[in-house]
Amino acid sequence: MTIKYLDHFNFSTKPFSKELGDAELWIPPTKKALVDDLCEAIADHDSVLLTGEPGVGKTCVLRAVRARIPAQGCRLTYCHNATLGRRDFYRQLCHALGLAPSATAAALFYAVSTHVQDLGRDHMHPVFLLDEAHLLHQDTLDHLHILLNYEWDSRALLSLVLVGLPELEDRLALRRNRSLIQRIHRRFRVDPLTIDDTHDYLRMRLRRAGNDKELFASDAIGLLHDATRGSLREVDRIATWSLREAARLAKKRVERDIISRAVDTTSTFEE
Ligand SMILES: Nc1ncnc2c1ncn2[C@@H]1O[C@H](COP(=O)(O)OP(=O)(O)OP(=O)(O)O)[C@@H](O)[C@H]1O
Ligand SMILES: [Mg+2]
Repeated sequence: MTIKYLDHFNFSTKPFSKELGDAELWIPPTKKALVDDLCEAIADHDSVLLTGEPGVGKTCVLRAVRARIPAQGCRLTYCHNATLGRRDFYRQLCHALGLAPSATAAALFYAVSTHVQDLGRDHMHPVFLLDEAHLLHQDTLDHLHILLNYEWDSRALLSLVLVGLPELEDRLALRRNRSLIQRIHRRFRVDPLTIDDTHDYLRMRLRRAGNDKELFASDAIGLLHDATRGSLREVDRIATWSLREAARLAKKRVERDIISRAVDTTSTFEE
């Protein structure tokens, strides 16, 4: 089945698809600096906190880090289901690490921490990337600083990278979590897009899909930027709706009125 707006604008592929290869990610200077900082923190064997609003590109930043980190010397393990109690959390880690899951919480923890020590002996640094970490159960959070303790807390054998919404900062600031936050050495935010970023991002996406014309009027981009509040995922959604609508109306460009309708028609938010 043909997709009309792709033909109408001569796109070779869906311009705002989430299915981008690591090499195709948009890395403007601000994101490059963040990826550099994260790679350096991991090289230093530090643990890291990375926060930002939904859709600003946190997980894509992790993908950019994955593409940069040398396979030799570093082992990244990505966990995205944070909605688990402590025992299932460790079971998930065992599974991701290729370890046989044990029955009890203590045995699961022992398997993971022994694996970390084995990797250390092989000069391999493990990095556990815990995405959606604002959803971690408190009993899991209570335990993470223990997972970072090797040889009487004298070795930095593991980096934890906690990634989540800004409320994760509030949770970690609670007195109950002070032992953990003290061990998270580096703390970063992914900022929402600026208006210049939104222009660049649109241009990059359209060019990658084979169309380097200015398909969005400048004031349309201004409105798109305001309405999406710097979220790339929202830009993807509203821009796709708008291109589809412009094609339906046989227009060659997305003007401000189409963005305005896209926002009114598809927005689920209220001020
Ligand atoms: N660097 C990038 N290059 C290209 N597209 C990107 C980039 N960052 C984000 N996007 C687009 O925005 C979408 C959302 O990004 P991402 O999933 O990284 O956000 P997030 O901050 O992890 O959101 P959430 O908090 O909801 O998990 C991606 O699916 C992709 O389409
Ligand atoms: Mg994410």
